[in-house]
Amino acid sequence: MEKEQLYKEINRLKKEKNAVILAHYYQEGSIQDIADFTGDSLYLSQVASKTDADIIIFAGVHFMAETAKILSPNKKVLLPVKEAGCPMAEMATELRLKTYKEKHPDRIIVCYVNSTAKVKALSDICVTSSNAETIIKHYKDEKLLYVPDKNLGTYMREKYNLDMEVWPGFCCIHNDLTPKQVSDMKAKYPNAQFIVHPEAKLEVVKMAEHIGSTKGLLNYTIESSHNEFIVGTEDGIIHTMKKHSPNKIFHILTPSLRCYDMKLTTLEDVYLALKEEQFEIIVPKEISEKAFIALDKMLKLS
Ligand code: 13P
Ligand code: SF4
Repeated sequence: MEKEQLYKEINRLKKEKNAVILAHYYQEGSIQDIADFTGDSLYLSQVASKTDADIIIFAGVHFMAETAKILSPNKKVLLPVKEAGCPMAEMATELRLKTYKEKHPDRIIVCYVNSTAKVKALSDICVTSSNAETIIKHYKDEKLLYVPDKNLGTYMREKYNLDMEVWPGFCCIHNDLTPKQVSDMKAKYPNAQFIVHPEAKLEVVKMAEHIGSTKGLLNYTIESSHNEFIVGTEDGIIHTMKKHSPNKIFHILTPSLRCYDMKLTTLEDVYLALKEEQFEIIVPKEISEKAFIALDKMLKLS
């Protein structure tokens, strides 16, 4: 089917089934354009917790759709591509976290939303990259564990001088960024500001003029008086950055800033998800209820 025909069919099925499409900023532009809501992981989880729709199509990766299901257990939540996952979310397992908790019962577990439902169920509170600072500041005098992103955790620990251990997980896309890539791009585009997601390593983050979640970076490019940016996060965000600021210039730090899993979803997959009502996310009740507590605490503090 041609793109226009797919858009037509998607819109028809959406109405017929009272469905809503949520798309992360890292999705292909054509999917962001057909979505009812486009945003970062925090915004999309807030939307999922409030929607009146019967069906949520989550164009993103598994942990995002799973989070939507935990927050809206009575809705049908569908992930258009069954295999679309986040490798970082798999780097913390239930068994390892349970073992850690037995050895360190005094540590509060702060869990990045890029994690499985089972890990969230063992955690005290969740955070995303856009509310991590606000939430972690509430716990700044406590003994903490940050799971699973070592880079965001290390950045927070350094910034606020926290007693916080960090899990050795990472995002394979952001973790690969290097100071040399930044200095080369700064030399090539001397008028551009470097902006970066905190999932990058600390030595890269320290070179940035602005650090933020995807939404934070987008807002910065809209509000800043600067006209040119070197973008240190997944390239899908540039679609939205350009839409908001058509006269500004955006350079991706490196072409390798493409999340393979995020880019698995096509418009056709979104259409099939709606038509066939596939692939449904199921979270066992006992896990969902515990994970809900950690997510709900996060939403209340956001
Ligand atoms: P955001 O919290 O900025 O949406 O980031 C999610 C993510 O997967 C970043 O790699
Ligand atoms: Fe996971 Fe990284 Fe992809 Fe985000 S960009 S979904 S953290 S692998």
